[in-house]
Amino acid sequence: MSRDPSEPVIETRDLSKVFGRFTAVDRVSFSIRRGEIFGFLGPNGAGKSTTIRMLCGLLSSSSGTAQVNGHDINREPELIREAIGYMSQKFSLYRDLTVAENIAFFGGIYGLQGARLRDRTATVMTLAGLTGQENHLTGTLSGALQQRLALGCAILHEPPILFLDEPTSGVDPVSRREFWDLIRGLSARGITILVTTHFMDEAEFCDRLGFINAGRLIALDTPARIKTTTGSATLEAAFIKLAT
Ligand SMILES: Nc1ncnc2c1ncn2[C@@H]1O[C@H](COP(=O)(O)OP(=O)(O)O)[C@@H](O)[C@H]1O
Ligand SMILES: [Mg+2]
Repeated sequence: MSRDPSEPVIETRDLSKVFGRFTAVDRVSFSIRRGEIFGFLGPNGAGKSTTIRMLCGLLSSSSGTAQVNGHDINREPELIREAIGYMSQKFSLYRDLTVAENIAFFGGIYGLQGARLRDRTATVMTLAGLTGQENHLTGTLSGALQQRLALGCAILHEPPILFLDEPTSGVDPVSRREFWDLIRGLSARGITILVTTHFMDEAEFCDRLGFINAGRLIALDTPARIKTTTGSATLEAAFIKLAT
C-alpha cells in the first residue's frame, strides 16, 4: 500500500485506557511522522507500556482513537502487527535457546522462510554484533548482547515501525550509547521509532518527546524546546516543573 509520506505514521487522539475504575492512559494525543524517533518519558506506572500495548494492537482502547500505519488499533490489530516490530520491556527472548534458535523462532512467527530468512538472519547477526556466536546459549550472553539480539529479532521482518519499551534498562552506559547509535541508524533508513525510557540523558537523542505522568501527556515537543519553554537547564528539571 502506498501512503502519503507527509501523513503521520502513528496518530492518537484522546487515547485512553481504563482498568476497572483506574485510568492508566488518559486522553493522550500525538502524531509521529515517518523516520522520527519519538521518546515517551515518564516515571514507573505513568502509562507508557499500556500505550505501547494499545498501539501494537495487543490491548484494545477504552476510548479515543489511534491509527498505526493507517490502521485503526481496535479494528485492524492484525494488520498493525505485520507492520511493526515490538521489543517488550523484558526482551522476550528464550534464554535456553541459542542465538540462532531464537532468530529462527522469531523468523517463523513472522513467516520468513528459505533465502529471505537466511538473508535477514545474516543481516541481523551483523547488526547485533553477534556473528560467530550463533550457537551460544542466549541466557549466557551479556545484557547488552541480549538487548541487541532482541532488537534484531524485532526487525527480522523489516517492519517500517518499531516500538521499543525501555530497551536499555539493565544495560551499562557504554552499551546504551552503542544501542542508541543502532536506533539512529534505523531511523536514518526511514524506520519510525517510538521508544520509552526513564533515562533523561537518552531522551536527548530523540527528535521529539512526549512526557507522560499519571496517564496524562504533560509535554509534547523537541528536547530543546521543552527545556526553553520551561526555563530548565535539563530535561529532568523540566519534567519536575511540568509534573508539579
Ligand atoms: N492489566 C492491567 N490491569 C490493571 N492495571 C494495570 C494493568 N496494566 C497496567 N496497569 C496499571 O496501569 C498503570 C500504568 O502501567 P504501565 O503502562 O505499565 O506504566 P509504565 O510502563 O509507564 O511504567 C500502572 O498503575 C499499572 O499498575
Ligand atoms: Mg512500562
